[in-house]
Amino acid sequence: MALLRIESLTKNFGGLAAVNDLHMEVSESEILGLIGPNGAGKTTLFNLVSGFFPPTSGEVRFEGEVISDLKPHEIAKRGIGRSFQQSVLFMEATVFENVFTGFHMNYRTGLLKQFLHAPSVRKEEREIKHSAMEILEFMGLASLKDELAKNLPHGLQRVLGICVALASDPTILLLDEPVTGMNPEETENAIKLVRQIRDNGITIVIVEHDMNAVMTLCDRIVVLNYGKKIAEGLPEEIKENPEVIEAYLGREGV
Ligand SMILES: Nc1ncnc2c1ncn2[C@@H]1O[C@H](COP(=O)(O)OP(=O)(O)OP(=O)(O)O)[C@@H](O)[C@H]1O
Ligand SMILES: [Mg+2]
Repeated sequence: MALLRIESLTKNFGGLAAVNDLHMEVSESEILGLIGPNGAGKTTLFNLVSGFFPPTSGEVRFEGEVISDLKPHEIAKRGIGRSFQQSVLFMEATVFENVFTGFHMNYRTGLLKQFLHAPSVRKEEREIKHSAMEILEFMGLASLKDELAKNLPHGLQRVLGICVALASDPTILLLDEPVTGMNPEETENAIKLVRQIRDNGITIVIVEHDMNAVMTLCDRIVVLNYGKKIAEGLPEEIKENPEVIEAYLGREGV
């Protein structure tokens, strides 16, 4: 059974079909690349899967269950995490505080209990602090935990965005252009980290324009153009697919 299954999914914005009758599946433990020219519908697909937009028609199934009628926080709780194309970090907060806040998004304790500072809350706070540090260590940011997010170089801000997404304890992680704007060294480091995340059992869907990164990292690739899937296959097949080449050559800005 596919971990994530997208069936006849369509999203219209006025007269524009940003995602158009899309069918695709993501298998457990794979790194799936989702590519396509600017405006192909990649981010819209992420917004549909994570519940930020309701679909116009069709559905999304996760672990066999329909999730396309759920709210974003309910979908996050089921185990779908995401990072964003634009940074959503708290720039005036520290690296640690950003990840710590990520944990609070699925924090179980009620407000009254927090107010009363019950022992169970303090225990939970301690556990969250510990887990936040574990993520920072895993992602190589532990030594920068007290640095303000705004002081990190661009590449590490992107890595911190992934740390925040990991704080929701996802089964599957949707990464929207994680290496865009990184220098080659930062890109190489980020690729290693994404692999390491997958090797720890988290399935990855990655949207990325950096073709070298996509081709080295992904097990399989799905190509979108004008909201439709135009190709699907192994990286070496996609590289040589005439329709894919045509889609990229036919547009500017890629
Ligand atoms: N909230 C919205 N309202 C109206 N139109 C939108 C909205 N979001 C996206 N679109 C349109 O839907 C189409 C797909 O956009 P989307 O952002 O999904 O593309 P993308 O593949 O992520 O592109 P890029 O590679 O540039 O990030 C575009 O034509 C875009 O202008
Ligand atoms: Mg996008």
